[in-house]
Amino acid sequence: MIVPTDPDVRPCGLKTNDDSGLVATAFSRPSLSWRLDASRSDVSQLGYELELAPKPGFDPPSVATGRVDGGSPLHVPWPRDPLASREVVWCRVRVWTDRGVTAWSNPLRIEGSLFDAGDWLARPISPAFNAGRVEPGPVPLLRRSVAVSKPLATARLYVTSLGINEFWINGQCVGNALFDPGWTDYRHRLLFAAFDVTELLKPGENVLAAAVGDGWWRGNLTWMNRRAVYGDTTALLAQLELTFADGSRETIASDESWLGGTGKLRLADIYNGCELDIGQVPAGWREPGFDDSGWAPVVALPLPAGLEQRSMPPVRVVDSFAVPALPRGDGVLAIDCGQNLTGHLRLTVHAERAGTVQARHAEVLEPDGSLHTAALREAKATDTYRVPAGNFVLEPSFTYHGFRYAEVRLDPGLRLIEAEARVVSSDLPEIGGFACSDERVNRLFENIRWSQRGNFLAIPTDCPQRDERLGWTGDIQVFAPTACANADARAFLASWLVDLAQEQAPDGNVPSTVPNVIQGHEFEFGGVGWSDAATLVPWALYQAYGDIGTLKRQFPSMRRWVDYGASRLSAEGIWTGDFHLGDWLDPGAPPEKPEQATTDRDIIASAYLAYSAGIVAQTAALLAHNDLAGQYRALAERVAAATWRRWGDEALRTQTGCAIAIEFGIVPAGELAAAGAALAGLVERAEGRIATGFLGTPLVLPALTRAGRTDAAYTLLLNEQAPGWLYQVLNGATTMWERWDAIEPDGSIHSGAMESGGGSSMISFNHYAYGSVGAWLYRTLAGLAPGEPSYALIDFAPEPGGKITWAEASIATPFGPAGIRWERSGGTLKARLLVPPGARGQFRVAPGWALADPSAELRFGSGAHELLLVSE
Ligand code: BGC
Repeated sequence: MIVPTDPDVRPCGLKTNDDSGLVATAFSRPSLSWRLDASRSDVSQLGYELELAPKPGFDPPSVATGRVDGGSPLHVPWPRDPLASREVVWCRVRVWTDRGVTAWSNPLRIEGSLFDAGDWLARPISPAFNAGRVEPGPVPLLRRSVAVSKPLATARLYVTSLGINEFWINGQCVGNALFDPGWTDYRHRLLFAAFDVTELLKPGENVLAAAVGDGWWRGNLTWMNRRAVYGDTTALLAQLELTFADGSRETIASDESWLGGTGKLRLADIYNGCELDIGQVPAGWREPGFDDSGWAPVVALPLPAGLEQRSMPPVRVVDSFAVPALPRGDGVLAIDCGQNLTGHLRLTVHAERAGTVQARHAEVLEPDGSLHTAALREAKATDTYRVPAGNFVLEPSFTYHGFRYAEVRLDPGLRLIEAEARVVSSDLPEIGGFACSDERVNRLFENIRWSQRGNFLAIPTDCPQRDERLGWTGDIQVFAPTACANADARAFLASWLVDLAQEQAPDGNVPSTVPNVIQGHEFEFGGVGWSDAATLVPWALYQAYGDIGTLKRQFPSMRRWVDYGASRLSAEGIWTGDFHLGDWLDPGAPPEKPEQATTDRDIIASAYLAYSAGIVAQTAALLAHNDLAGQYRALAERVAAATWRRWGDEALRTQTGCAIAIEFGIVPAGELAAAGAALAGLVERAEGRIATGFLGTPLVLPALTRAGRTDAAYTLLLNEQAPGWLYQVLNGATTMWERWDAIEPDGSIHSGAMESGGGSSMISFNHYAYGSVGAWLYRTLAGLAPGEPSYALIDFAPEPGGKITWAEASIATPFGPAGIRWERSGGTLKARLLVPPGARGQFRVAPGWALADPSAELRFGSGAHELLLVSE
């Protein structure tokens, strides 16, 4: 037996790559990660040992890896044969440092989920009246009683639905997820949840009860008003597995023995909202003793394909706060949440007599104080409640709204007692922080965070309010690096990427929305920038979290997209003539034709292909596919050279052209400074106004920094005129706007009229694409970036600018908390740095500064460090 010889260090936070928070793991071969807890500095891991056992005593372990040399505590491959369905394994780890071996970590319990279709006795069930019903209607309820006749040891509930579900046992909600099972490409894949429900069951009669909303399965989708995209029947799939103290087992599955009914939810649609008739609640229907003899029989459907456990956090109410409701002349209460958000209102109402309460929502107000609803297009975003006399807490189900403002209308005899805003989002741990001496920039950062919260809802969406809310690939492609710093988005985006690969066309082309629900529309394949989500989102996950597993899984999909692009190349090695959404919403484009940007889409297409081919080459090298690495590197170099040959001069005529050419390695190294000067010149001629759309925006500040012109980057960042980031802030934005000038300089609301939408409005106040500047705030303004994937090496490279006197950023990296704070006064700059155990740091001195002590170390191990710089 080895005695711990390094008592200052201990592995902690041992986890699998399943971040669902459910009782079981989605993966039969989960990877393992941990962190190091250390009471001294300069700690690194030299090796590790894992033990696995069926019991937490590890006496004896069934698998012991022995010492494995390796510095990384992240994404260590499963050291055993795959988990069986329902199998329980305990795992622990200890590590070797330069001082010796640590104690064992706390044990981690890992339970296999249901991995095979054969594990399911259950079938999807729908009340007969709900089957084949395309039109909106009452939300079906399902119930059955279960007798627990012997002492129970454990109980597991596996549950999902065609549509979105809520599930209760004896009236108690199981899990506190909303919108489960989320939105996947249901044709290929349906997620389920696994809960430990032992404590919810009692001896005697128990009742299982569920409601199934239309959700994405059958509800309204897209501005084309598609319904029943995945099917005309919503249904529940549930399996309760009881293990008794005597070792015997019983399975209760959704089948024809259940009964169906309806209740208060007369209608529920994601876009349109809910209609609830509170008087219709069949009292006690979720509890034992209810007379369900009048309920309808159910029909059972075949088991859906691709059942997999959810591996990411669910959607939840992540925040709530009281909001004022002020009477407006016309008998309406006006609500201003003070913050644009995604979620709903919870209203506490007193009714002297029966009546109706209605809540309508919008992101901005018209000049007369009424709601601006044109931006919602066809989405009604209205919740209506009919109540009898009494006191009620009213809340919608199976819907969400993007709003800051609301109007609540109550019939005479009804009084609002309290209103609360409930913020709804995929519940990802927020890991990043940023602040600086400029409050306007801090508000910008908060707006970015709010837009991430509001648009990370089951999938990464474009917006939360209008009849869209789709997984536009371009939006998340540009935003992913920022998203991954703000929150632990690994499992969330990794799950979505599975659907992206499944939705890829046979020729490798990637649809503009994943799940792809706009088939046949002229924008179904949006071209580069959108489709490059296939390559750049897995790459962003690898950079932020070292997630090599996702990279490996996505590698075929990444290649297919780049191969598709390569198949479109001319003999000269450039990509011309195809449709691309391009630098969408470039402020120089006609407002009604945002795809007609000022930067030639052929330049953008060729540059993107070169860049993505380079990412595929690097991925191939990481995965030891050396031949492929060489092939894709050659492709990248050939296309980059051809692009520069053909368009070198032209690219440097727009901010986006310069930014893409610089950031995507199109500009030859020797011409970088000249390209930077050209970009800085464009910024100057635009008087600091930004001239980029979705694709140029994430790149323009990094490009200026790369080319040594961070001064011009600050000019763009701090510009207050339209178009610009601070213009939005100074005009009251609390989330990122879709268009730079969504509120025009004269205070009016942009019409957003679109040619492709027959003049309909495209004007959202909650779109994160322009929030992609967040990555530069972390990396350059504050100076905290991944120098190596997963922040194994932390790159501290702050470049102070403008009148900003201090800045700080922190990120809970996979190794633990990393941080920087710098303060500038007079000609000195003091930087305090934090490197988590197991990681290393490097400091890069910004142009114009020098170390006060030239012998100070610029590369260091974990712990706190301080550096003093002087201006040159
Ligand atoms: C969406 C965008 C999307 C674009 C591309 C819009 O309607 O809201 O964010 O990327 O269409 O066509």
